[in-house]
Amino acid sequence: MARFDPKQLEQFWREQNPRRRALRERLARRRLPYGVAVWNLTKGWNIGNLIRTANAFLCGEIVLVGSEEFDDTGSGGIYRFERMHHEPDIGRFHQYAAREGYEIIAVEIGQDAVPLQQFRYPSKPLFLLGSELKGLDSELIALAPHRVMIPQYGLIPCLNVNVTCSILLYDYVTRTFPDLEPVPVEGAKFKIDPGSGQD
Ligand SMILES: C[S@@+](CC[C@H](N)C(=O)[O-])C[C@H]1O[C@@H](n2cnc3c(N)ncnc32)[C@H](O)[C@@H]1O
Repeated sequence: MARFDPKQLEQFWREQNPRRRALRERLARRRLPYGVAVWNLTKGWNIGNLIRTANAFLCGEIVLVGSEEFDDTGSGGIYRFERMHHEPDIGRFHQYAAREGYEIIAVEIGQDAVPLQQFRYPSKPLFLLGSELKGLDSELIALAPHRVMIPQYGLIPCLNVNVTCSILLYDYVTRTFPDLEPVPVEGAKFKIDPGSGQD
């Protein structure tokens, strides 16, 4: 995996045509007031797919906490349209969240976690998801004023991190913004703007 490199991304946008930049600005105006943070994700396809999910649900920004390992696999280039931020450690992540006015929500299974269907979202949530192998660090959970989990009913002890994110964002967006207009459908897809990076 590569490292997330904001300078490389800035360079990419300097070289893009005005139509593509306009598309990015239009997307930026529609973004919703929430963020998704991930703690030490290690598998490229998880990060890429999570970014793809975040884009589909107009996430305000994606925060990489700890590891800045990053791989575009699964996002199909769409990560370039996302607002990405990196914080190297827990202390700085906490300061960043406070500065930006977020309420951190630890998304993690636990006896004191609120089941998703009963959870009441704050006005500016920052959903924090844990790593594939170790989950969320206990220090991170302790810093979060909220904890939510998706109830499970089968044999598997936990969901894949991107699957978790997908269920959560669908629930958050549809319950919080019930009147939000989805992108129009064309054939069996949502209509992709030409020049989005998916062409
Ligand atoms: C594969 S799980 C980590 C499992 C890890 N082996 C552990 O024991 O903590 C990766 C992340 O997905 C999220 N996750 C998975 N299933 C979840 C569920 N049912 N409810 C809430 N979060 C979940 C959590 O953020 C978790 O840290």
